[in-house]
Formats: sequence, C-alpha cells, structure tokens
Amino acid sequence: MKVNNKDYQTVWMEGNEVKLIEQTKLPYKFEIYSSKSHNETASAIKTMIVRGAGAIGATGAYGLAQAALEANNENFKEYIEKAAETLRSTRPTAQNLFTGINYVYDAIKNISDLKQMQETAVSKAKEFADYDADACKKIGEHGNSLIKDNYKIETHCNAGWLAFVDWGSALSPIYYAHRSGKKVFVYVDETRPRNQGSFLTAWELGQENVPHAIIADNAAGFYMKNKEIDMMIVGADRIAANGDVANKIGTYEKAVLAKENNVPFYVAAPTTTFDLNTEDGNKIPIEERDQDEVLFINGIDENKNVVKVRIASEKSDAKNPAFDVTPAKYIAGIITEKGIVKANKEEIKKLIG
Ligand code: MRU
Repeated sequence: MKVNNKDYQTVWMEGNEVKLIEQTKLPYKFEIYSSKSHNETASAIKTMIVRGAGAIGATGAYGLAQAALEANNENFKEYIEKAAETLRSTRPTAQNLFTGINYVYDAIKNISDLKQMQETAVSKAKEFADYDADACKKIGEHGNSLIKDNYKIETHCNAGWLAFVDWGSALSPIYYAHRSGKKVFVYVDETRPRNQGSFLTAWELGQENVPHAIIADNAAGFYMKNKEIDMMIVGADRIAANGDVANKIGTYEKAVLAKENNVPFYVAAPTTTFDLNTEDGNKIPIEERDQDEVLFINGIDENKNVVKVRIASEKSDAKNPAFDVTPAKYIAGIITEKGIVKANKEEIKKLIG
C-alpha cells in the first residue's frame, strides 16, 4: 500500500509500541498513532482509531503481544488472560478480532518461561498479520480473474488496505486489476453513518490513482437499474458456516438490489473471517453503536479545521446498528486466498478443512 507514494503497513509493532494509521482523522489528516500499552491498543480498537475486520484482528494480536511484554514473572498467566479478555471485548462482530487474539493466546497459554512466552507472542502476532497480508494479496489475484477491462464495480464501506492488512479484501482485486493495466471504475457507497466509503475508500482509491466516484448510499439502485454497475464486491466481518455474511450496515439491501438487477454480488475475505462455530447469520452478534454517529457528522470548514456538526433535530434520537447480515442466497461467490467458493455449507467446509 502506498500513501503519498511511500510504502506503509496497516499495523506494525516497534519495540513494545503498536503503530496504527489514525483512521478517525482521514481523509483530512494522515497520522500514525502509537499505542504504548495493550490497554491503549484496546481503546484504539473501541474508538475506531483502527477499524476494519482484518486491521482489528492484526491489532488485537499485536495488543496481546504488547501485554506479554508488559507482564512480569508474577502471575503472568492471569495477566495475559485478562488482557486477552480486554482486547476481545472491544468489538463484537468481526471474527478476525477473535481469530487474531486467539492465534497468539493459544500459542502462549501453556508456556511457563516468561522470556520464551514473550518472544513467542511477538513472533506469532507478526506471523498472523503477515498471513493476512499474504492472503489478501492472493484474494487480489483470484478476484482479478472476475474483472473484465472497463468494468464498473460498486463497493460498500471500506474493505481496502486500511481495513485489511496491506492489500485490503474487497479492494484487493480492484488494485490488482488496475495495476495489471485493466481500466476499472469504482462506485463508492458513502456508507452512512460513519462514511467509511467517502472518508476512507475514496481516499485509498485516490492514493492508488484508481478512477472512482462517491455515490449516496441510496443511489445504488439507480445505477444498477441503469446498467452502470457490472459487479459488486464487498468485504466481510464474519462469515457463518452456511455462507451468510455479516458486513457493514447497508450491505444486505445492496445484495437484494444486485439480485433484482442481475449484478453479480461477490464477497472478498480471507479464511480468518470464517466462523464455523456460528451456524448461520442470525447468530452473529451485531454491534449497536452510539446514536451520535447518526446525529452528528465530521467535516472540514473553509479554514481547513475539522468540525463536528449536528445534522438532526435536537429532539430526535437515533438507532445505529453497525452491521447487517446478507443471506448466502444473494452471494455469487466468496473470494478467498484459497480460491473463489460458493456461499454454502459444503464448499465452506471443504475450504476451511
Ligand atoms: O465498523 P468498521 O468500519 O470496522 O466495519 C468493518 C468494515 O469496514 C466493513 O464492514 C468491511 O466491509 C469489512 S472489513 C474489511
């Protein structure tokens, strides 16, 4: 991934600090956030300084490695257990968060030598992040095979390299196609209420020089009906055993519209997003976020100051579910690092093994 033509990683560790791209300040300011403790890392996940399923998975893994470095010889097992719980409780929906934390936790839970436990934690966290980066690169290669020259592709939310280590999930095939010389155009859903589409995806596509336009969330049907969209690719926060997909609120209605208008609707996600213990989408926990995300919006004024303004009546409350579930029947295929599979129980079981 490139920011201002310089190579960056989505998340990394330097000594005992976890380094993150400060996503709440984008697109107005590009800053690196340094978290000095596992508690600060947990809070960065909760407040969405870092967000996106894969990014919080890798951050959770590094957060537990941080806790390992903070631990001392007395009761370090309890310290690690408590830290893992703190990190797990930050956000409920994205499976990658749990996959990442558990990857490190399972590797260290039976080690009784402190130094060995610390070294293992740090190397396992990096291994996890590197796995996801490599998986996302392969998603790009597989997904590229679906993209024809001059394709117009719609995406929802942000499933680019801010959200999934170094390549992104849904945007990875688009980057791959663009870098290999195909002409592509991306319709970016703005993705209310937090505007991950207009604030993050559009900014990423700009950094990569991919032609795109932001559309209001409720314009998707208009463009699909007018045959302006050749395919839709979205990311996933959790995929249940039967192929139902939890993703950013608004994904479900786009999938229904895509079916109605014969637009192939693809989901891109590495195998770290699958949750075979959750039978179907109805059992995926859906995060309800603060109503202020709907009632207020951030923007930039004429003096380039970031300002937060209220956009609703003072007398109104709001509801704010962060995700919805798209039933498997609307999904043309799931693009993974191991290939493109149908969204059904049999294929998913074969894929995960
Ligand atoms: O609430 P967020 O911004 O962390 O939501 C996660 C997402 O960005 C999306 O749902 C995305 O499409 C899947 S994560 C690559």
